Amino acid sequence: MFPRILAVSDLHANWEWFAWVNRHAHRFDLVCLGGDLCEIFTERATLKDQHQSILHRLFRLAATGRSLAVAEGNHDAARPGWLGQGPGLEKVMWPGFSEEICIAGQTLVLSVCHDTVVDGVNAPGRVAAVFEAGATARDRTGSPWLVLHHEPPEGTPICAGADGNRLLSGLVARHRPDLVICAHIHEAPFEEYLGGHWHYRIGHTLLVNAGQWPKRRWPCHLEIEGDIVTWRAPGHPRGAVRLG
Ligand SMILES: [Fe+2]
Ligand SMILES: [Fe+2]
Repeated sequence: MFPRILAVSDLHANWEWFAWVNRHAHRFDLVCLGGDLCEIFTERATLKDQHQSILHRLFRLAATGRSLAVAEGNHDAARPGWLGQGPGLEKVMWPGFSEEICIAGQTLVLSVCHDTVVDGVNAPGRVAAVFEAGATARDRTGSPWLVLHHEPPEGTPICAGADGNRLLSGLVARHRPDLVICAHIHEAPFEEYLGGHWHYRIGHTLLVNAGQWPKRRWPCHLEIEGDIVTWRAPGHPRGAVRLG
């Protein structure tokens, strides 16, 4: 169903984790970064320096020939306009991309979203157009459909104990993508006492959030191949779930 996909989010300017992604990208056909590439609450580096470092790392990742999709998180949106086209980055699928692609001989529809919380308020029109375009491409082609959307839907296990997006559940129920990769609520997969989990379903749609476990040598991530989604988090048993 899907080619080999590595999905990592919430790297928050952890350069050791960026290096891990670059080292492991060769095992996959598509690398998806689900937002919060930079970190706004740090004095280690200015946001401007972080943006330059991240774009350089994306350039090196794109140069390996892997397909690369980059969604926007709230830390990235704090200073808009830096995440996007540049020399060597022409083939990267940036926020706003929503169409059918062919990777490693397999077709899929890929929708990449902008951050959805602007000034603390859900921005209703921003993502709706991306979903509309993705649904049109899916209906036309019948290809499997993957969405990257940073904030998980509020009130679900992948958003446990925290504020999330109040509009995403409705968009998912209406348009029914096959897989939605969320992020943002780092602790949700690990807070089982709050009902937290790394995956959740709305109808036939599977929604996932790999979470973030800080101060480890490798980042929480998802590996997708065919119709199996595997979750890996340092110090935790690996999980797997089937699409559909
Ligand atoms: Fe984050
Ligand atoms: Fe976030």
